[in-house]
Amino acid sequence: MKILVTGGAGFIGGNFVLYMVNQYPEDTIVNLDALTYAGNLETLKSVEDKPNYKFVKGDIADHAFIDQLFKDEQFDAVVNFAAESHVDRSITDPGIFVKTNILGTQVLLDASKKYGVKRYHQVSTDEVYGDLPLDRLDLFFTEETPLHTSSPYSASKAGADLLVLAYHRTFQMPVTISRCSNNYGPYHFPEKLIPLMISRALNDQSLPVYGKGENVRDWLHVYDHCVAIDLILRRGRIGEVYNIGGHNERTNLEVVQTILRELNRPETLIQYVTDRKGHDLRYAIDPTKIETELNWKPKYNFDTGIKQTIQWYLDNKAWWQNILSGEYSHYFENQYTDLHKKSTVR
Ligand code: NAD
Ligand code: DAU
Repeated sequence: MKILVTGGAGFIGGNFVLYMVNQYPEDTIVNLDALTYAGNLETLKSVEDKPNYKFVKGDIADHAFIDQLFKDEQFDAVVNFAAESHVDRSITDPGIFVKTNILGTQVLLDASKKYGVKRYHQVSTDEVYGDLPLDRLDLFFTEETPLHTSSPYSASKAGADLLVLAYHRTFQMPVTISRCSNNYGPYHFPEKLIPLMISRALNDQSLPVYGKGENVRDWLHVYDHCVAIDLILRRGRIGEVYNIGGHNERTNLEVVQTILRELNRPETLIQYVTDRKGHDLRYAIDPTKIETELNWKPKYNFDTGIKQTIQWYLDNKAWWQNILSGEYSHYFENQYTDLHKKSTVR
């Protein structure tokens, strides 16, 4: 198979490319990425010279470019990870989210239709379901939960999902969609909660917790997400949505406290800052469908996964320190203005 992976220089796409290139030497993996602030080819150093791997720089929303690429390469399958992925950035600048996440998906769908791609997989998110109340621990997102988005990010991802399902119904395109909970693990960009807290704790800097830190996320190690997508790509039923999650719900405060404990740093580093606008309260996935239909089971639970992840950040300081010293530092200054006012940075 020749598989197009879009967004393969990002966090999950990068982990997926590494997994697929090593797991399936007989397949060819073409990684298409625009190399936005979130794309990093350092992640792919270990596979860049492999004969079954190729990198192409380009924008999924560029119709002419995508058409030519599909014509030249004749892909068998497409896995679309490429997206603007950070909720906070979608609150300050929604336009690029609509362009990449919705228009980009439509451009990929058109090219997949025109050139007869045999399987199109859309990497979506549990955020399309909105949120659950904090006091109803009996509730979970299933594939039948109505879409009910909160942020420009989640609205753009839901728009993309609806387009994918429309291309299936209208044009009988062979599509699948996965909706995963929060990922963590190696190569995670340090603007997101877990890598932000690890990198700042290691530098003895204050840790900005939104609101009271009581919002709940359902954490899944990125390796388990990659395995699930591979299974859906090969054995998932066409036209179906699969939720992915491993029942690892934690409040944000619990996550930060765990990181501080593992790194032997004091809780006085925690600083409560202004809450995120429209902040979703709780995400929690019911993974019954993928477990029963595809026999998927996660390898990591949060306790084992977070230890492995922290060790990775300790062993790979150059990877994240390069990011922190670049363009990202300006984003941090603008995003966390009240952190600086009351800074406890040592
Ligand atoms: P990321 O921000 O780390 O990576 C996104 C990648 O897409 C980057 O390499 C970037 O350069 C590339 N990209 C952005 N715009 C592009 C464009 N127009 N054309 C081509 N490439 C472009 O994101 P991530 O966290 O790895 O998320 C990947 C996918 O998984 C996204 O679709 C996201 O919605 C979804 N998802 C993420 C999580 C999570 O917890 N991170 C959970 C569920 C689903
Ligand atoms: O659920 C899947 C989603 O998970 C993906 O679709 C998104 O692409 C991904 O970014 C992630 O979204 P979240 O908004 O849940 O992740 P983030 O790491 O930004 O925040 C996790 C929680 O931590 C959230 O409740 C907000 C909080 N937070 C985040 C940051 C960056 C803080 O308290 N402080 C922070 O500085």
